[in-house]
Amino acid sequence: MKKLDFVDLKYKPKEDLVCLFKVFPRGKSVAKAANIVALESSIGTWTKIPKQDYVEKLKAKVFSIKGNKVKIAYPKELFESDNVPNILSSIAGNIFGMKIVKALRLEDVSFPKTILKSFKGPKYGIEGIRKMMKVKSRPLIGTIIKPKLGLKTEDHAESAYESWKGGCDIVKDDENLASQKFNQFEKRLVKTLEVADLAQSETGEKKAYLVNVTAETKKMIKRAELVERQGGKYVMLDILTAGWGALQTLREANFKMAIHAHRAMHAAFDRNPNHGISMMVIADFARLIGVDQIHIGTGIGKLEGNIREIKEIKEDIEQKKVKETKNRLEQKWFDIKPVLGVSSGGLHPRHVPFLIKHLGKDLVIQAGGGIHGHPYGSRAGAIAMRQAVDATMKKISLEKYAQTHVELERALEKWR
Ligand code: 3PG
Ligand code: 3PG
Ligand code: MG
Repeated sequence: MKKLDFVDLKYKPKEDLVCLFKVFPRGKSVAKAANIVALESSIGTWTKIPKQDYVEKLKAKVFSIKGNKVKIAYPKELFESDNVPNILSSIAGNIFGMKIVKALRLEDVSFPKTILKSFKGPKYGIEGIRKMMKVKSRPLIGTIIKPKLGLKTEDHAESAYESWKGGCDIVKDDENLASQKFNQFEKRLVKTLEVADLAQSETGEKKAYLVNVTAETKKMIKRAELVERQGGKYVMLDILTAGWGALQTLREANFKMAIHAHRAMHAAFDRNPNHGISMMVIADFARLIGVDQIHIGTGIGKLEGNIREIKEIKEDIEQKKVKETKNRLEQKWFDIKPVLGVSSGGLHPRHVPFLIKHLGKDLVIQAGGGIHGHPYGSRAGAIAMRQAVDATMKKISLEKYAQTHVELERALEKWR
């Protein structure tokens, strides 16, 4: 057999960036395909070319092959350390389209200290968000204004007000709302923050509006500046459709606001378990750059995703000590703060005990339809959601709590 130049099973990574891939070769062995993945994502190309010795030293090395699971170590010098697009263009670039692989999945990444140190990470993280929102231990409750598109600004603001009054902590724009004719950014921001202040003073609770600043980068920054001037607590970004460079630009601008990361489009990368990029990796890069909270899935709502994987993602972004296992690489993130997970998509009050049981209390529970679809309207929908959280925190079953809480009772009746 010809020597596989980029395979070195004796190699022990030190200050390398390590990737865990699932490699599905086409007509060749896993080792041969992995060799080509390593070369294409580092210093090689399709044919042998003469290389200086100092370039040879920068080879990526396949150092572990177990079935389809392959670990590759990349010398840190291969990357511009504070440039996420650059890192991804190597480890998640051309390789997905190579003929030698039928399919290829980037499952996990572990970063060397030099890369971790060159990023800010979250400004607030779980603790900072709890402090800002003055919510000590229960999950935060959020809603997304529905209908997701088409609503006029006044109605959008009214619905937000009702949700806050009913007990939501946060109200967010939907991912595809930006500055359409029917509901323009600036007017929406001003009107919605106005009613947030009103609800805050009337309820004595902190109320936050997560306005979607997703747009072309310069426009995104202008919008974020406006949020800062208007005293907003948060901005929201569709991190994947906006792009990693845009997210970095937003974080590097170091606004006072927390960053809520929506992951619309993630399923194009992560849904096929044998191809693409896992949500774990997406969440890791988002944390590295510095989002304060990110959508991780529900395990129960309208969107695909099983609870075991979602739990793993959550542990990962919360930096519970992650030990190396069959599916994971070891993670040490030094002083980069943990990120708050957000569950959203098809949720209603009946789902709350499941979410808290599996994902814990450090969580944002968000419902759009499950609040605004309440038979008595949005305010009652928010009340019902808050009651479901209160009941679960007090370890009382929803059915029992509903006997004395009519909003919850009606919600349970509608959503069985
Ligand atoms: C997700 O987790 O990505 C969503 O369920 C969709 O999020 P949304 O609630 O912001 O639309
Ligand atoms: C979505 O787009 O998935 C949401 O904003 C969540 O909405 P839902 O709670 O109505 O599913
Ligand atoms: Mg949405």
